[in-house]
Amino acid sequence: MSDNRRKIVIFDTTLRDGEQSPGCSMNLEEKLRMALQLEKLNVNVIEAGFPIASEGDFKAVNQISKQVRGAIIAGLARAVKIDIDRAWEALKSAAKPRIHTFIATSDIHLKYKLKRSRQEVLDAAVAAVKLAKSYCEDVEFSCEDAGRTDDEYLAQVVKATIEAGATTINIPDTVGYAIPSQWGARIKHLVENVPDLTQKAVLSVHCHNDLGLAVANSVAACQNGAGQVECTINGIGERAGNASLEEFVMACRTRPDLLDFTTDIKTKEIYPSSRLLSNITGAFVQHNKAIVGKNAFAHEAGIHQDGVLKDSLTYEIMTPQSVGIHKSDIVLGKHSGRHALDNRFRELGFELEKKDLDKAYVLFTKLADQKKNITDEDLLAIVQNGIQNIPEKWHLKYIQTVGGNQIVSSATLVLTDKTTGEDVKDAATGDGPVSALCNTIDRIVGLEGILNDYQVHSIAEGRDAVGEVFLRVIFDGVEYMGKAASTDVMDATARAYLNAVNKALFAREHGVDKDKQKAKRGV
Ligand code: KIV
Ligand code: ZN
Repeated sequence: MSDNRRKIVIFDTTLRDGEQSPGCSMNLEEKLRMALQLEKLNVNVIEAGFPIASEGDFKAVNQISKQVRGAIIAGLARAVKIDIDRAWEALKSAAKPRIHTFIATSDIHLKYKLKRSRQEVLDAAVAAVKLAKSYCEDVEFSCEDAGRTDDEYLAQVVKATIEAGATTINIPDTVGYAIPSQWGARIKHLVENVPDLTQKAVLSVHCHNDLGLAVANSVAACQNGAGQVECTINGIGERAGNASLEEFVMACRTRPDLLDFTTDIKTKEIYPSSRLLSNITGAFVQHNKAIVGKNAFAHEAGIHQDGVLKDSLTYEIMTPQSVGIHKSDIVLGKHSGRHALDNRFRELGFELEKKDLDKAYVLFTKLADQKKNITDEDLLAIVQNGIQNIPEKWHLKYIQTVGGNQIVSSATLVLTDKTTGEDVKDAATGDGPVSALCNTIDRIVGLEGILNDYQVHSIAEGRDAVGEVFLRVIFDGVEYMGKAASTDVMDATARAYLNAVNKALFAREHGVDKDKQKAKRGV
């Protein structure tokens, strides 16, 4: 069936607004992996970072510009020369670069943050767009805190920045204050009061989720003329997050009877994208989250189960398969071969190179020895946790932990130094087995870590389910994320901690990540 509905541009800001939120930071290699997945998902624009904010952000925008050729790559810049110059420097090798410049326009921001008059802000916005335009044809301008900006002044800024050359005008509800009907009316007011607005530029919205209305507001904006939606995978972003990409996209797809617009998103890539992001960041998706939560397609009540078995239409408004969640009939176990594994990975959206498939197969057979049936979630954990590019300096060979409520906890470990091939054995005590284990690793590797966050999640059901451990640990004032999965939680903890250790040692050796702490945006 042909779909003649208007196409909404999907501007994904997972790597910029999303990455800014606490607990969601990513290193260069992780951002690149995520960007390649966003390309597969077929987003139209990837906002890859804020180049002036840190060396790490600059490198990420630069690398993504070089390697991701299908999507437009955007870099954020305040409405000042130094930011715009830096953004262009990072973006200039992109096949389709976009400079995204912004300044706040609400009286609250003008008075307390910028201490500038409306005219001064208008002049700065116009100058910024003109400078960006001198570098790049595709320029987006955002009126930060547009949600609380005076309607007439907002229209004046939009008109002036379009005249200066902006090709996309973004209207952010920066503090998530809008209500759908009012937000729709605000967008309509702009369309009606800025001559030829939607012919001359793409009108965009960027809604935050402080009242849980970001997706509803984005839908209302599109019903009133917006042509671009800024959103993130799993809805991550500043504070309560941004509009969730998967929710907006599936609303368009599920309600063509009411919504006369659609997107280019390949919806089967939604679930792999969501899983990849939570695997990279350790920021878990709440179980009842729409579309990608663990319970989004689970039916518990007897009446519901009966209905779904008779016909899934009874209680499902979309199929799990349509968002890339597979319930496969082929059970993978210890007798499955490399070919079956490769097929299953392809169905899940991963085309592994031979060396990665070999690695995945080793991890798979190890897991199959511990666990009868390997689920898709187990496979996703293998591909996303096991195959990583940080070289292993220290490898876990042996672990024994002792804990209990009446004894002093202790851990004994043997680690292999991969550079020398030597095995090093040590033991330590601690306030509980996790602390004993971390203390032992610190003694062996010669670092002193402060454990900042420690999370254990079971990936599938059952007593033999694989446990995923995510932790954040500070070495030398810089935070590193570590992750690992195993049927044994202490084994997973030791390997997750070592994952963070290996990242810290790699960063130390290569002088990277030094700016991670001071990074983030200064706006
Ligand atoms: O929320 C916001 O206003 C932003 C802008 C920089 C687009 O993130
Ligand atoms: Zn934002």
